[in-house]
Amino acid sequence: MSESTHTIGQALRDAARRLSASSPTPRLDAELLLAHALGWPRAKLLAEAREALSPDDQARFEALIVRRKNLDPVAYLVGRKEFFGLEFEVDRRVLVPRPETELLVERALALAPTLGPRPRIADIGTGSGAIPIALAVHLPQATIVASDISADALAVAAANVARHRVGARVSLLLGDLLDPLPREPALDLILSNPPYATPATVDENVRRHEPHLALFAAEQGLAVYRRLLAQAPAYLRPGGALLLELGDSQSEAVAVLASAAFPGAQIACYPDLAGITRALEVRTSPP
Ligand SMILES: C[S@@+](CC[C@H](N)C(=O)[O-])C[C@H]1O[C@@H](n2cnc3c(N)ncnc32)[C@H](O)[C@@H]1O
Repeated sequence: MSESTHTIGQALRDAARRLSASSPTPRLDAELLLAHALGWPRAKLLAEAREALSPDDQARFEALIVRRKNLDPVAYLVGRKEFFGLEFEVDRRVLVPRPETELLVERALALAPTLGPRPRIADIGTGSGAIPIALAVHLPQATIVASDISADALAVAAANVARHRVGARVSLLLGDLLDPLPREPALDLILSNPPYATPATVDENVRRHEPHLALFAAEQGLAVYRRLLAQAPAYLRPGGALLLELGDSQSEAVAVLASAAFPGAQIACYPDLAGITRALEVRTSPP
């Protein structure tokens, strides 16, 4: 921030200009970070644009701008991220929930009428807990088990479960994929947004700041899908469903793995809002 910055409006313009080389959304970033520095809702910034910033507020804002120029995700700098209309605590222990992952929740809600009156659902690789918590809020009869191999990630998920008061129906288990789950009673639905990237396909800012355990998988990103699909039939009831988020260009390879794991099942793919095939849905044959 330049020394001549005095008002909120000037501070925002100056910060947006400085972020424009490193962020695709410089003005939005500046507003979110200044609102965070001041402890205000973002809308108040525009109403108070002519107000002077105190030296302390300027210093707090400047520290955030410097970190954003270093490509720190805004969600980590402000400590939260909205997903499916709900606010989640996030920090460097978890992947920042992405808008495209909302498709998995939408598909699960669309399938809900087929899942039975009290669906048992599992979310594998839960990270911040965004998926099971969104489902628990929208499916009041569902119970959801969420696993992660990272104890650090589960600590963040636990904070979010408490924040959204869904602890009676969302349980968190530490372990590899489906291993920590009981096989009985069988599940009605399994969801997962697993690690599926390779270092070459991920932007530098993501690679530098988000947990590699959440991002990367061997075998061109297919290794976790392969293991999860091999385990899933032993946990899913006949007639149950499975939903997987897909990386770019992975739909055919994952569909092959899914048909091998669930012979005779119906398999469908769905695009995200950008038109990229993003979710794969398996509906297994009824008993
Ligand atoms: C792509 S992130 C998804 C996080 C969250 N579900 C979301 O959509 O924002 C993948 C998550 O899977 C976890 N993970 C990686 N390998 C795993 C494994 N073998 N078993 C269980 N969880 C795993 C990571 O720790 C990370 O939290």
